[in-house]
Amino acid sequence: MSIVWFMQNYLHTYGWDVMGEDFIIEAEGVTKRFGKVIALNNVNLKVPSGVVGLIGPNGAGKTTLINIIIGLVKPTRGRVSVFGCDSWKERSKVLRVIGVLHEGAPYPTVLTAIKFLEYVARIKGLAEPKVEADMAIKKVGLGWARNRKIATFSTGMMQRLGLAQAIIGRPRLVILDEPTSNLDPIGRVNLLNLIHQMNREEGISFLISTHILPELERIADYAIFMHEGHVLESGSLDELVKKHLNYDFSIWTQHPERLAEALHSKDYVKQVNVKDGAVLVNVEDRLRFAMNLPVIAAEHNLPLIEIRQSRRNLEEVFMALLGDEDAGNAYEA
Ligand SMILES: Nc1ncnc2c1ncn2[C@@H]1O[C@H](COP(=O)(O)OP(=O)(O)O)[C@@H](O)[C@H]1O
Ligand SMILES: [Mg+2]
Repeated sequence: MSIVWFMQNYLHTYGWDVMGEDFIIEAEGVTKRFGKVIALNNVNLKVPSGVVGLIGPNGAGKTTLINIIIGLVKPTRGRVSVFGCDSWKERSKVLRVIGVLHEGAPYPTVLTAIKFLEYVARIKGLAEPKVEADMAIKKVGLGWARNRKIATFSTGMMQRLGLAQAIIGRPRLVILDEPTSNLDPIGRVNLLNLIHQMNREEGISFLISTHILPELERIADYAIFMHEGHVLESGSLDELVKKHLNYDFSIWTQHPERLAEALHSKDYVKQVNVKDGAVLVNVEDRLRFAMNLPVIAAEHNLPLIEIRQSRRNLEEVFMALLGDEDAGNAYEA
């Protein structure tokens, strides 16, 4: 038995991503029509492992895409594979390695949390439902509420319970449809932190659909932007930000034009623009720029009112993408 065979087969079976695992989900030419409505229009995707955001406004096609990924809905055209299995034709294989939290899924409120999770473990055909349920409830931090009836749960607790039922059986991929939409900002941060921790500690990949961006960007490795049934763009967050936000710093000062002129001649500055009263700068060397900026500002007697380093900002990337889309439409018209 060669070591390569061992790594590819043995380790793979146990859910470890080895030998640079390629893509966990691949969609090829996926179109879904509901009568006259085109919910998905020729979607092509290759999604790597990690924490992946499926981002788009209501009606973008996120839930439809998720339902196709999990084999609940048959695409009108095209195919989706999950860990190499066709999600429609090999649905039962796919379901064995994924967990799902549907949007607004109803729970049997008369059951206690732990009884409900045991029930889920039995449905999934797991050998030791009690052990699995116990493990899942502890992982989501609801151990203290195990014997409480679900009817008494707050929204935040319900979402944790939803996550617990999705991770039962230790899936390789957990798909969550709008898990944060009913939560307040603190509840959202808590849930996303938990997801981040599970990804880092246990290597579970997550696909999280959402129309609420600000918190997701802290934990997502990869983003898919959807709009009106199309995938506008997908990529790692770093790649997307580099591509769509083509400046490194925004600086506000009393006389932006004067600061822009002063920065223009510096060798560590690649590009300077003034837009909406801010000086937008693209630099060769962030550290050198940050060290020199106050000196230049002082030399020219320009108070620095605010300096922002452009960071991973999904909202800005999405707005840039929608802008491109509008520009494209205008061009076509
Ligand atoms: N079962 C269905 N029957 C008819 N139209 C549907 C159905 N499911 C979704 N749609 C339509 O498909 C489009 C995409 O919906 P959906 O996938 O739910 O978007 P999202 O989850 O991004 O809000 C919407 O226009 C929606 O009205
Ligand atoms: Mg939806």
